[in-house]
Amino acid sequence: MFYPTGPDVNAQGLSRRHIVRAVEASLTRLGTDRLDFYFVHAFDENTPIEQTLRALDDLQRQGKILYPAVSNWAAWRIATALGISAKEALARFELVEPMYNLVKRQAEVEILPLAAAENLGVITYSPLGAGLLTGKYGAERRPDSGRLVDNARYADRYGLDSDLATADRFTAFAEELGVEPATLAVAWTMAHPMVTAPIVGARNLSQLEDSLAALDVEMTPDLRERITALSPTPAPATDRTETLKSTWT
Ligand SMILES: NC(=O)c1ccc[n+]([C@@H]2O[C@H](COP(=O)([O-])OP(=O)(O)OC[C@H]3O[C@@H](n4cnc5c(N)ncnc54)[C@H](OP(=O)(O)O)[C@@H]3O)[C@@H](O)[C@H]2O)c1
Repeated sequence: MFYPTGPDVNAQGLSRRHIVRAVEASLTRLGTDRLDFYFVHAFDENTPIEQTLRALDDLQRQGKILYPAVSNWAAWRIATALGISAKEALARFELVEPMYNLVKRQAEVEILPLAAAENLGVITYSPLGAGLLTGKYGAERRPDSGRLVDNARYADRYGLDSDLATADRFTAFAEELGVEPATLAVAWTMAHPMVTAPIVGARNLSQLEDSLAALDVEMTPDLRERITALSPTPAPATDRTETLKSTWT
């Protein structure tokens, strides 16, 4: 829920009108009475959060959705929404869906701590960096086709030299370990204690099997730390990073 679903100027965003119509259209298309989770996909600058939350609350009370969920909002906006839901006794976001993989670790800074503090479920997307962490990309390596070659948006998202350098280090590490890079990448993502489950993407059965093999990887905390050290750690959310004295002097 967010992107345009038709030519009507109102058929987009997170307005009450669009959300209600979109949920009803989804129920019809799916031939079901109820959606377990309903995700708002991105933040809508043009709609007050209260309007979105009231619409989702109404849909929950009507039994059309069980839980509202949110993807791609900054942590502080999710926190604002949780505060409004609590104050107004509205259904709250129970599940967040951030991007999270070895080269996109921004979620570690605020989204995952927020989820822990507020007891939210976390399903992450793009555990393979849309293909970057499968062994076929690197500073000197790219396949003839693939999402990061064919899709400009994704090529841009994962095109930094540092992303490719991380992919090289990660591929070498996986080879040394004797595990498919794709398998190890999914195992790394799902081993974060706050990750409920990653959403994997696959173009064919063999790719899917590589990702599913992550369930058999014994990802100890030590192994996870060694893999984590292969990519730059994102900056913390505050510049006041020294250990503060208890007396605050
Ligand atoms: N909320 C959001 O904004 C958002 C955004 C993105 C995705 N999602 C959700 O998350 C799901 C997964 O995201 P994603 O598709 O980006 O996940 P991903 O698992 O990071 O990337 C999947 C892609 O990697 C490549 N790949 C997968 N396994 C491979 C293997 N074993 N060897 C080589 N290449 C392999 C394939 O692309 P190629 O064959 O083309 O290389 C495949 O399409 C999506 O389906 C969607 O439901 C949500």
